[in-house]
This record gives sequence, C-alpha cells and structure tokens, in this order.
Amino acid sequence: MNLLVTGGAGFIGSAFVRLVLATQPGVRVVNLDSLTYAGNLENLAAAAEHPGYRFVRGDIADQPLVESLIASEKVDAIVHFAAESHVDRSILSSKPFFDTNVLGTLSLLDAARKTKLARFVHVSTDEVYGDIDPPHEADEQFPLRASSPYSASKAGSDLLALSYVRTFGLNLSVTRASNNYGPFQFPEKLIPLMISNALEGRPLPIYGDGLQVRDWLFADDHCRGIWAVLTKGAAGEVYNIGGNCSLPNIEVVHRILAATGAPESLLTTVADRPGHDRRYALTSAKAERELGWSPVMNFEEGLRLTIDWYRANPGWVQRVKSGAYRDYYARNYGAR
Ligand code: NAD
Ligand code: DAU
Repeated sequence: MNLLVTGGAGFIGSAFVRLVLATQPGVRVVNLDSLTYAGNLENLAAAAEHPGYRFVRGDIADQPLVESLIASEKVDAIVHFAAESHVDRSILSSKPFFDTNVLGTLSLLDAARKTKLARFVHVSTDEVYGDIDPPHEADEQFPLRASSPYSASKAGSDLLALSYVRTFGLNLSVTRASNNYGPFQFPEKLIPLMISNALEGRPLPIYGDGLQVRDWLFADDHCRGIWAVLTKGAAGEVYNIGGNCSLPNIEVVHRILAATGAPESLLTTVADRPGHDRRYALTSAKAERELGWSPVMNFEEGLRLTIDWYRANPGWVQRVKSGAYRDYYARNYGAR
C-alpha cells in the first residue's frame, strides 16, 4: 500500500508515520507537510533514512501538487492530519484555520475524487461535539456544536468530507479523537506546556477554575485507531477514538507537579479562554465493537513516559520554544 500522509511532521502525524514504518512492512509513506510552526522534521529523524519514506514540503491547498503526487507515487490512500490545531491560536487569528482545515481539505477531496483514489481517512476531533453535560458521552450521532473557530473549521471539514461520500462516492471515513498527549507534542497544548514550564521553573497558567474536563488519549493509541479505521472502517462512517481517561485540568497539572518535583507555588490562575468548553466526553464503543480497537496506555504510565521524554530532550524543547513561540506566548498569556 502507498500512503499519502498529510501533516506528518506534526505531533500525531509523525507518531502515525513512525508507527506505520515500524509495524507495516511493505507500506510506503509520502509525507506532505508545509512545515508551519507546528511541523518539525526532527520528529521524523529516525524515519528519514527509511527506504519506504519520502518527505515533500508543500501545502495541502495546492491541488495540482496533490494530484501529481497521487499519480507519481501511485497513492492508494490519504490519511489526512494536516491542520491548524490549537484553539487559542484560532481565537487570536481564525483565517489560517479556514484556509487549511476547510479549503485545504477541499483540495484533497477534489484531488481524491479526480484521481479516483481508493481510500481516504479524515482525522478529526471530539471538539466538534462541543460541551457535553455530565453524565452524557457523545457518540457519533451527536449534533455538532462548535464553540471555537478551530472546532468550527474542523466541523466544516467533517461535513465537507462526508458530503463527498454521499455525492461522489468517495471511500472515506472520519475519526474523532479526544485530547492527545505524548512525546513530540508542541508546548502550546496543556500537557507539554505544563511539563516544560515545570521543568524550567516557570509559572503554570491555569485557565479559569481549572475544573474543565478532558479525556486523555496517548497519541500511539490514537494512531493504532486510525490504522484500524484505514484498514477496516466503512465508507461514510464516523469513529470516535477516546482514551477512557476523563480528568479535570487541575488534576492533570497536580500530577505533573508531583511527577516533576516542581513546587505548587508555580500554579497560576489566569483569565479563562473565551468560549471555553467545560467538558468533553465521548464513547468509542463503535470503534471497539466494529474495529476491535481500544486504548491500551494508562494515564499514569503515559504521563511518566511523556515527562521522561521532555526531560531527555531539552534541545528539542529549546528549539521549538525559540523566537516565534515567545511571540505567541506573549500574545496569548501576556494580557491574561
Ligand atoms: P499539529 O499542529 O502538531 O501538526 C499539524 C501539522 O500539519 C504540522 O506538521 C503542520 O506543518 C502541518 N500543516 C498545517 N497546515 C498545513 C498545510 N496547509 N499544508 C500542509 N501541511 C500543513 O497537529 P496535531 O496535534 O498533530 O493534530 C493532527 C490532526 O489531529 C489535526 O487534524 C487535529 O485537528 C487532529 N486532532 C488533534 C488532537 C490533539 O489533541 N492534538 C485531538 C484530536 C484530533
Ligand atoms: O479534544 C481534542 C482537541 O484537544 C483537539 O482537537 C485539539 O487539536 C487539541 O488542541 C485539544 O484541544 P483543547 O483546547 O482541549 O487542548 P489544550 O491543550 O489547548 O487545552 C486543554 C485544556 O487545558 C483546556 O481546557 C484549556 C486548558 N489550558 C490550556 C492551556 C494551553 C489551560 O488551563 N492552560 C493553558 O495554558
């Protein structure tokens, strides 16, 4: 099988590329990534020498490029990760989210339709379901209720992708996963930001009361779920992929403080995120039943592995926390 992976230099995309190259002999991977601030070829240093791997720097919105890659690389399937992925950045500036997440996805869908591509997996998020009141969990039939420009752009791309199944017969499935964590995650997201700040003795900024709930999924578990959807999922179907690990943010941060040995005095309450979703909760019963997938990593072990990785890779952290990151940090946290 020849795969075109989009956004393979990002956090989850690079975990997927590493997983496929390590476990699926005979599968070739072409990684199309424009290398935004979140794309980092260091994440794929081990893959770079693999004979079944090729990197192409380019924008998913460049449809002629996508079509030519599908033809020249004899691509059988697209696994589409590329996105602007951070809620706070979508609040500071939303347009790039629609350029990539909606129009970029449209370009891939049109390229897939024109070239009669055999298979397409569109990687999405539980964030499209919005706040879920306890004790409910969203299944795949839940209405989409986007709260942030990021989730609106992802909901838009989900609907677009599913419309290409109904209207053009594309063999496409959608995945919706909960909050991922693990090595190589850009330190703008809660867990890597809190770990790297704790290790550097910087303040840990908690939005509002810190009682917002997220369901934590180790990125490698997510990637096994995407592989299951790629190889066993049905056209037009959506599959939730969750971690079975719901925790309030403040609890996650306390565990990070305990595991890093950083003092509680680093905890700092800052102004809440506008439109902040209070609770995400989803059921992955469909993926478990129909694909035989379930998460295997428990949170304690996954968090320990993740902290160990950030401790062992201060160079990676320092390079990604350079100039542009400092500008973003000042814009996002300076006024709070
Ligand atoms: P990320 O921000 O770490 O990586 C995104 C990658 O996409 C980067 O390598 C970037 O360079 C690339 N990219 C961005 N715009 C592009 C463009 N126009 N053309 C080509 N490449 C482009 O993101 P992530 O956290 O790895 O998320 C990957 C996917 O998974 C996204 O679609 C996201 O919505 C989804 N998702 C993420 C999470 C999470 O917790 N991080 C949870 C569920 C779903
Ligand atoms: O649910 C899946 C989604 O999870 C993905 O679609 C997104 O790509 C991913 O970014 C993530 O979105 P969240 O907004 O939930 O993740 P984030 O890490 O930004 O925040 C997690 C929680 O922590 C959220 O309630 C906000 C809070 N938070 C976050 C940061 C960065 C803080 O309290 N302080 C912070 O500094």
